[in-house]
Amino acid sequence: MAISENTRLHYLNALGITVWQSRINETRATITEISLPPSSANEDALPLDSWEALRNQVIQCEQCILCTTRKQTVFGEGNPNAKWMFIGEAPGQEEDFHGTPFIGEEGNLLTEMLRAMQLTREEVFITNILKCRLPDNRNPHVDEIHACRDYLHRQIALINPKMIITLGQVSAQTLLEKTDSIENLRGQIHQFQQKPLITVYGPNYMLCSPIEKSKAWQDLQFALEVFKKHE
Ligand code: URA
Repeated sequence: MAISENTRLHYLNALGITVWQSRINETRATITEISLPPSSANEDALPLDSWEALRNQVIQCEQCILCTTRKQTVFGEGNPNAKWMFIGEAPGQEEDFHGTPFIGEEGNLLTEMLRAMQLTREEVFITNILKCRLPDNRNPHVDEIHACRDYLHRQIALINPKMIITLGQVSAQTLLEKTDSIENLRGQIHQFQQKPLITVYGPNYMLCSPIEKSKAWQDLQFALEVFKKHE
């Protein structure tokens, strides 16, 4: 989606970044209690998988109530061999309509965050914890996260990224199976499937809480440093 230079600068300013660099943040839910059963997505336990098989399963998925309210599933977008994987919470209304993650205002901000990291949407892979829209933008229920979890774990195993970035608290808490706030999770190198995982505020938080914007940019710079060390 093309955006004007003024809009781009607006987003960059919102991130607290001068001219061609970027910024972020996130709001949304807090999972106050995660009691997910142990994940079955032990890489060794996964059967031989394929991207197309996985995509078809997601398209047809009826494992939770969200299939009754979605227009379509949102599998994810980008390079299936990406070095960077960005994982948000769930598609919103626009994403549900277009079948693409992170579009609209939050999407533009994410694109700018990537640009500031000298990355493009085409070279990374962007997806969500949930592949279906949450009605009324409500928080995800534990059973919905559980129903969708293996899809994401299989995407990660297939892509085999060098770096995982969670966008927002729900995404971080879900992948790490922790209840800590994003404030406590940020600034550390976590691991998921033996890959470094960095938690970053999501674009929505950034748009709602510009005061925290510089922290988001710090988190991205931290992610870049970690990536360079692990490359
Ligand atoms: N759009 C997405 O696709 N995911 C989010 O978490 C927020 C907006």
